[in-house]
Amino acid sequence: IKRIAVFTSGGDAPGMNAAIRAVVRTASFHDLHVYGISRGYEGMIDGDFKRLERKDVANIIHRGGTVLKTARSKRFMTPEGRKTAYESLKAFDIDACIAIGGNGTFTGANIFAQEHPIPIIGLPGTIDNDLFGTDYTIGFDTAVNTAIDAVDKIRDTADSHDRVFFVEVMGRHAGYIALHTGIASGAESVVTPEIDTTIEDVVGVLQRSAKRKKLFSLIIVAEGSRLGNANEIAAKVNERLPGVFDIRVAVIGHLQRGGAPSHLDRMLASRMGHAAVEGLVEGKADVMAGIVNDEIVYTPFYDAIFTEKTINNQLIKMAGILAM
Ligand code: F6P
Repeated sequence: IKRIAVFTSGGDAPGMNAAIRAVVRTASFHDLHVYGISRGYEGMIDGDFKRLERKDVANIIHRGGTVLKTARSKRFMTPEGRKTAYESLKAFDIDACIAIGGNGTFTGANIFAQEHPIPIIGLPGTIDNDLFGTDYTIGFDTAVNTAIDAVDKIRDTADSHDRVFFVEVMGRHAGYIALHTGIASGAESVVTPEIDTTIEDVVGVLQRSAKRKKLFSLIIVAEGSRLGNANEIAAKVNERLPGVFDIRVAVIGHLQRGGAPSHLDRMLASRMGHAAVEGLVEGKADVMAGIVNDEIVYTPFYDAIFTEKTINNQLIKMAGILAM
C-alpha cells in the first residue's frame, strides 16, 4: 500500500485527534501518504479529501472533537452512496482506509469492504465503550471523568438541600458510562440497561438511606436503561412515594462528548492509531484494532459489532456493596 485515507465518523469522542495524529505520523514513518477525509462517509462520497503530513497534525493531541469533522451519513447506507464513495477513493488512488468511530461506522465499513476491494482497519472511537474487542474505547475515560466532575458538583447541592438527584448519563444502549460514573462518584445506585432494576429496587435504596436519616441520594441513570430515562424514573418514584423525597433530575448530555482527552484516552488513541497503520502494513483488513489486557488485538468488524461486550458482573456486585 502507498496511500491511506483516514476519517472520523459517528459521534465525536475526545481522543479522536490523538488517533489521527498517530495514524499520520506512523504512516509517514513507513513512507505512506495519508489523506484526511472530512465529515466521515459524507466526505468520502463528496470527494472531500486533503493530504495530511506530519506538520498538519501538530498541536492537536490535546484537543477534543475531531479536526476532520464527523457525520452520521444516510447516503452511505445505500449501495449507490457506497459506490460513489469507492469511486472517490479510486480517484485519489487510495489503497486502504482507517475508520475511527463506533458501531455505525464499523457496520458501514463492514458492508463497504464486502462490496468493494478496499482494506479497512477501524479504531474504536466512541464514548459509549460498547465495542467488543477492546477493554476501552477512545473517549470513554474522558467522558466518565466529565460525568464524575458533574456528579461531584451535584452532590454538593444535593447534600445542602437534602435532595434526591437522578443524574442521566449517555451511553446509548450500554451502561458502561453509568456504571463507572456511579462507582467513582459514590452514587447510591446505578440504573443501566444490563442490570434488571425495578422501581421497587430504586425505592428500596432510597428508603434504606432515609432510615439512616440520609435524605440526599445520587442515582446514576444510563440513558438507555430499561426502566426509562432519568425523568421517567424520577416520576415513577414520586408516584410510589408522593412527596417523601425532594427529587431533582439532571441530564449531563453532550458535555460528555467534549473537552481535552484524558491521559488514558491519549494513550489509547496513540497506541491504536499506530497499531492501525502497522496492521495495514502487515496486510490486515476489515478488523478493528483494540487493546485487551494491555495488548493490541485485531477483531473482525463483524465480531466487534455483534458480539456482546459483557459488562463486568463483579463491578456491578461491588457497586451495590460499596453503596450500602
Ligand atoms: O454514541 C455516542 C453518543 O453520545 C451516545 O452516547 C448518544 O446516545 C448519542 O451519541 C447521541 O447522539 P447525537 O450526538 O447524534 O445526539
